[in-house]
Amino acid sequence: MGGVSSKTDESGLVACEEQALAITRDDVINALSTVKVDRGGTSLPGSGRLSQVVVDPTNRVMFSILIDPSEAERFETVRREAEGRVLAMPGVSGVFASLTSERGPNAPPPQAPQQSGPGPGTPLPPPRTGAALPGVKHIVAVASGKGGVGKSTTACNLALALHAQGLAVGMLDADIYGPSMPKLLGISGKPRVIEGKVLEPMQGYGLKVMSIGFLIEAESAMIWRGPMVQSAITQMLRDVAWGDLDILIVDMPPGTGDAQLTMAQATPLSGAVIVSTPQDLALIDARRGVTMFKKVSVPILGVVENMATFICPNCGHASDIFGHGGARAEAARLEVPFLGEVPLTMAIRETSDAGRPVVATDPEGPQARIYRDIAQKLWANLSGAPAGRAAPRIVIE
Ligand SMILES: Nc1ncnc2c1ncn2[C@@H]1O[C@H](COP(=O)(O)OP(=O)(O)O)[C@@H](O)[C@H]1O
Ligand SMILES: [Mg+2]
Repeated sequence: MGGVSSKTDESGLVACEEQALAITRDDVINALSTVKVDRGGTSLPGSGRLSQVVVDPTNRVMFSILIDPSEAERFETVRREAEGRVLAMPGVSGVFASLTSERGPNAPPPQAPQQSGPGPGTPLPPPRTGAALPGVKHIVAVASGKGGVGKSTTACNLALALHAQGLAVGMLDADIYGPSMPKLLGISGKPRVIEGKVLEPMQGYGLKVMSIGFLIEAESAMIWRGPMVQSAITQMLRDVAWGDLDILIVDMPPGTGDAQLTMAQATPLSGAVIVSTPQDLALIDARRGVTMFKKVSVPILGVVENMATFICPNCGHASDIFGHGGARAEAARLEVPFLGEVPLTMAIRETSDAGRPVVATDPEGPQARIYRDIAQKLWANLSGAPAGRAAPRIVIE
């Protein structure tokens, strides 16, 4: 539901005020009906192009406008006007409006460059289309072929390890369907809106962090349609005051489907890290991940094997529950760098789930050392890999 859920404040005052300012979806649609999409005067809501309008409990409004990629330029004007109208509504605290396009069977992916040419079956055009992010030196995706392999845990601890090297690090949680950075980094609350629609990133253990988890309630994430996912990520990338960063780590949605491919292509990535467990099945998925990034010419900075060896919390004995070394062998086969192995430990599981990531809370411990090592290799590979080039073979020490 739109509007503010009526919280009972002890004084009753705050609740009343909130109530008075509550914005409903209908209010937004009303405001948008003054926005015309063509010369004939068709209104935006009447055009069938308006997505579901979402109003969060802090009166932030989110919607998208469905377009054909060829209409992008014209509709950018409409988008801005729509955003302005909503922002002018009394009580609205922020707007998150985007252009999205459905992908027809033969249509180029949304945001692909307009090229006369690639028919179905033709390989995707190699250049990545996203413009660089001013002030951000490198954007690195952490990806996995499937969920549950520890991608978010690895992304979070790698980001912290890079920060421990003295780098300015941002963390973008692009896993729209399962955002986990608020929990992993123990951050709650909502980001502040600076100037209309630019959001201030949240802070956690020295990282600048943005996640859809800060913006919408878990349940409303369900209504986001495919094309909105890409546009939400693009906006978290572009409408957040990241400032100067050495590296922005992106926790990608798991999998290697169209959505991930489009995103890999639309984000100006310097490279990608693939996280895998050592089982055969996970490795097959990891291979798909490598192939996906190669397709869009994103260099693979390396593969991380997660949950390989189980370290017993009582006696410290190591056992290879899922096998061991599979990811290293796979990396060699695929001719991509291998960054390291993270064992399955109680410390990592407990600290992750408690919002106290191990690299930040036990920086001198054995786990932190492993992540720091991986981070160092990653950074070395990155520095030698200007965006758009293949990563060089890794040479450490
Ligand atoms: N190396 C590890 N040792 C112990 N537990 C881990 C490790 N890596 C991840 N986990 C745990 O596994 C679960 C899934 O990890 P998560 O990072 O959320 O995976 P993904 O993002 O791939 O879905 C979490 O409960 C997390 O704490
Ligand atoms: Mg995750």
